[in-house]
Amino acid sequence: MRLDKFICKSTELTRSEAKKVLKMGKVQVNQEVIKDPATQVHENNSITIEGQELTARSSRYIILHKPVDTICSNVDEMYPSLLHLLDVDRTFDMHIAGRLDADTTGLVLITDDGRWSHNIISPKKQCEKVYRVWLRNPLKDDTAEKFAHGVQLQGEDNLTRPAKLEKIADNEVLLTITEGKYHQVKRMFAAVGNKVVGLHREQIGPIKLADLELGRWRYLTESEVAAFL
Ligand code: URA
Repeated sequence: MRLDKFICKSTELTRSEAKKVLKMGKVQVNQEVIKDPATQVHENNSITIEGQELTARSSRYIILHKPVDTICSNVDEMYPSLLHLLDVDRTFDMHIAGRLDADTTGLVLITDDGRWSHNIISPKKQCEKVYRVWLRNPLKDDTAEKFAHGVQLQGEDNLTRPAKLEKIADNEVLLTITEGKYHQVKRMFAAVGNKVVGLHREQIGPIKLADLELGRWRYLTESEVAAFL
């Protein structure tokens, strides 16, 4: 992990305060003064600020049921950040592993462990996400086949990866995708002449929203965390 990140995880300093302390030459890694915030360190290294040994807090892993009119960002914009729904310390250290649009509801994973979230969001990992989708027009018979083959989204070089479509009702489906392009689900249905009128994420990998109420959150269990380690 980066040295400035390690300092944040083991003190009350913010990232910019950590950088200042580094610049002042107050930080030693294995008895050597280090000023570069990007230096990679390991928890086994001896890291001190003015001689005080640092120990990193353990990482946090949270599942939240996102309501509409909140945004997956650390700062408020047109709508408030969904991080306001968490009553935990230092939410500014945390990030969202796989964003949802303001008008989408459902499962959001939040953590301060960048390596863990990489296993969810990196396109190479092909992590499955399951969406419940409500459509303006009845599902066409050939949509599942088109999605299984891949469709061309506007402005993209490649077809979408094979996706699984399960029909629930004429205007309701479950869609499983393994990538997370901008507005991907909405653009996939637009590519086959339909329109998404409601979107809800139910599952990421093996982690399910289940009966977590709208706007509520909980820490993930050890086995849920282990699924992406
Ligand atoms: N695809 C979308 O179009 N929107 C989301 O919020 C998530 C996936």
